[in-house]
Amino acid sequence: MGFQEVIDADGRIEPRDEMPEAYRKTLVRQIAQHAHSEIIGMQPEGNWITRAPSLRRKVILVAKVQDEAGHGLYLYSAAETLGASRHDLLDLLHTGRQKYSTIFNYPTTSWADVAAIGWLVDGAAIVNQVPLTRCSYGPYARAMTRVCKEESFHQRQGFEAMTVLSRGTPAQRQMAQDALDRWWWPALMMFGPSDAESPNSAQSMAWGIKRFSNDELRQRFVDATVPQADYLGLTVPDPTLSWDGEHYRYGEIDWTEFFAVMKGDGPCNRQRMGFRVKAHEDGAWVREAAEAYAAKQRAKAI
Ligand code: 3HC
Repeated sequence: MGFQEVIDADGRIEPRDEMPEAYRKTLVRQIAQHAHSEIIGMQPEGNWITRAPSLRRKVILVAKVQDEAGHGLYLYSAAETLGASRHDLLDLLHTGRQKYSTIFNYPTTSWADVAAIGWLVDGAAIVNQVPLTRCSYGPYARAMTRVCKEESFHQRQGFEAMTVLSRGTPAQRQMAQDALDRWWWPALMMFGPSDAESPNSAQSMAWGIKRFSNDELRQRFVDATVPQADYLGLTVPDPTLSWDGEHYRYGEIDWTEFFAVMKGDGPCNRQRMGFRVKAHEDGAWVREAAEAYAAKQRAKAI
């Protein structure tokens, strides 16, 4: 079957199958930026590992941050099946020519932020990533299956930590509310611009890469999360929020903020990229040693 027949039959495209160059390119774009988001996303939470309030929280957080690194590796490997090189993709990230999710450019100023990231950011990631397990490109879909299993643990541990805070002292409850106030709207932005403003969605949906539009998934996230905030006894920072019998109607997203942070003017953009580039440079000796060892093994095998 040709490419379009496979897509029309809701089948899977595998690396060796014929595919339009534009299909390959948009997959490399999306998968690479997904991978970049995972590895940059390690920073906001990582900076609380040494300050976790208990050994149990520290162990959970270390496991979660390690998982994010692993998600990045699965995704760079999926991008490599499309002929992209991990080295080039990281260079595109480091030189600002490829993106990562704006959500990771916000500061984590209290322990409640770590809880809110698990609850809201990983919660939004699950809503966005579960449909990607049915993406038409095989390696991406399979990577998502594994990622989503770990993402569920991430979301549950975040919601549990928010529950403990919201049932705690008045100061802890205030910390949880303050975190919700600061992470709610950036979490809604994770689903991308509105459908009317999304240049990639129509084609990605026609090719079975995206199964639902940005606004459909955003609405799904809001409908699932508002009752959770109610359970926590917290107030979603949206005075216009209302239930219309089917959905929660929410207020206007600040798209000026979204595009400004995407362009590099967020609170932590420079810090995040500075840390990322330094980590890459500090790790050069590991890559060189691994490449030297691999070359020696190849020479032995001849
Ligand atoms: N942050 C930064 N850039 C964003 C963005 C965001 N939140 N949302 C959209 N964009 C960019 C897009 O990359 C695109 O730019 P490009 O053409 O230069 O790549 C532009 O804005 C227009 O957006 P579109 O909706 O047209 O683009 P897409 O069709 O690619 O949809 C998307 C955007 C919904 C993010 C889609 O790419 C996607 O589903 N990606 C996979 C999931 C992902 O990357 N999630 C990021 C967070 S990872 C995460 O949460 C991990 C968890 O473990 C914490």
